[in-house]
Amino acid sequence: MTKDNEKLFGDKKIPMKTMIKRLLYFILPEWKAFLLAFLLILVSVGISTILPLTLRDITDALGDLGKPLSFIIGLSIGYFVLSIVSQIIVYIQGMILQKTGQRIVYKLRMEVFTHIENMSQNQFNIMPVGSLVTRVANYTTAMSELFTNVIVSLLRNILTILGVYAIMFYLSVKLSLVLTLFVIVVFVSSFIFRKVITKIWRKERQYTSELNAFLNENLSGMNIIQIFNQEKRKEKEFNVKNEQLRKTKSKAVLAFAGYRPFITFLYYAALAVTFIVGIYLSLGAGEIVAFYLYLSRFFNPVQNIADQLNQIQRATTSSERLFNLLDVKPESTDKPNALHIDHFEGKIEFRNVWFAYKEDEWILKDVSFIVEPKQTVAFVGATGAGKTTILSLIVRNYEIQKGQILIDDIDIADLEVKCLRKAVGQMLQDVFLFTGTIRSNITLRDDSFTDEEIKEVCEYVNADKFIKKLPKGLEEEVIQRGENFSQGQRQLLSFARTVLHKPQILILDEATANIDTETEKLIQDSLEKIKNIGTMLVVAHRLSTIQNADQIIVLQHGEVIEKGTHQALLKKKGYYHKLFLLQFTDQIN
Ligand SMILES: Nc1ncnc2c1ncn2[C@@H]1O[C@H](COP(=O)(O)OP(=O)(O)O)[C@@H](O)[C@H]1O
Ligand SMILES: [Mg+2]
Repeated sequence: MTKDNEKLFGDKKIPMKTMIKRLLYFILPEWKAFLLAFLLILVSVGISTILPLTLRDITDALGDLGKPLSFIIGLSIGYFVLSIVSQIIVYIQGMILQKTGQRIVYKLRMEVFTHIENMSQNQFNIMPVGSLVTRVANYTTAMSELFTNVIVSLLRNILTILGVYAIMFYLSVKLSLVLTLFVIVVFVSSFIFRKVITKIWRKERQYTSELNAFLNENLSGMNIIQIFNQEKRKEKEFNVKNEQLRKTKSKAVLAFAGYRPFITFLYYAALAVTFIVGIYLSLGAGEIVAFYLYLSRFFNPVQNIADQLNQIQRATTSSERLFNLLDVKPESTDKPNALHIDHFEGKIEFRNVWFAYKEDEWILKDVSFIVEPKQTVAFVGATGAGKTTILSLIVRNYEIQKGQILIDDIDIADLEVKCLRKAVGQMLQDVFLFTGTIRSNITLRDDSFTDEEIKEVCEYVNADKFIKKLPKGLEEEVIQRGENFSQGQRQLLSFARTVLHKPQILILDEATANIDTETEKLIQDSLEKIKNIGTMLVVAHRLSTIQNADQIIVLQHGEVIEKGTHQALLKKKGYYHKLFLLQFTDQIN
């Protein structure tokens, strides 16, 4: 994924001070764990910096015939025990931090998810689902790693270097100063290398995901490619992407091939210098051995710090993106004194409604109509006329710019969104099924519904016929967003889902895709019954639905141009009459 893809509307830089404050919000509740971990790190770093000194004493004792054997054995056992203790401490501290980190990510993910849930449809339009997924899944992890891994390792490395330096200076100032030159070279070259390799890796990730996306799309559409003889052209396109990826990968290999040997070379050079300068300064054998050991303890932390500085930068960016997302105020939230109403009669009125998805591109122009309780109204019009839009405005998926929408004479802008959506049962054109079972898709995982209720509802909407035929009935699994069910069956399931939740207003966007005649009959029959539940607004494509409606509202380019019953509108011989002749002549017989 490219950087640009990850950018979302509303992203901006957050000042360092604010960042730290906001990060502290997650850290503070866990301060005990962090403090404990910090103390353990101190102890383990302390032990590992002292260990080489023990070896110095052992080496010196080995060269000194006066020292008894028991002294050397004692020292060796001490060395051994300390090493083990140090490892145990590292383990415990690691566990503490990992667990704390997991708690933080858990909390963070929950927070981000709830936040996203409350966003409006409009906001989802400007924030593609893919980027939101990245934020919830990856960025939360990246941010928690900042606490559990990066900062802690950085701390450990800095402490180690300080400790080692202190002891080296204590052993020999001159030799330490000479070795400092090496330290600087290692640090600078590591830092540069990390910068370079991070860039290469980012490119590599981008090219990999481009290649995957290409494969995904083209393998899925392979039959079209073959039908239209596009194989050669696609091969060429693929080759370009393949080549990009290969080049980037070899760049990474090349970078490592240069860096690693260079560091190894520095290490051996530093060793040689230690021995030569050590002898020149006439240091003892034990001291030179100790230096040798400290040197090996030095190289890794110095290289790592360079890496960790980069990691911190990346983690900060991730955190910033998360905070940016959390800072996006969910639209269409309730007014301060929003009304909560449990039951509606179901009168609906659009009063001079103007609506645009994008500024000044009016999709609905001065739309007005009244639907009395329990009436059924059918919306008719060409594709793009604004039928679906009208339905989505009733549940406040979007906020209108001018006019009023009223339910039972109350402006829906004054209602609690929650009670509004509870009162309105939505049956949309593309029925969305979740992974789970038929049952969980009908109840939406609300366990308060009894088996009796579910079965009754399925029978009522004619969904029982096909459910009965499934091997596992209600427990049949739904996979891949319901691809194992036909469009008609999904529509019936959405009827069951809606009716079960007992709405007072129903909105239905009839499916236009092919539905087999048998299911079609079931759906028609089912709709006749559902109409009696409450007020019903239908975007109608079926002649039967239109004919039986109490009122038909005819739309053209976002304007209501005709209103009335089927018969009245036919008599008028206007737009509806034309539409009717065009669309339904074949259905009349
Ligand atoms: N989410 C959206 N963002 C921007 N424009 C949209 C969106 N949904 C629909 N439109 C536009 O609004 C117009 C009406 O669409 P819609 O209500 O779906 O029509 P219908 O259901 O009558 O076919 C169309 O021009 C469509 O392109
Ligand atoms: Mg539509």
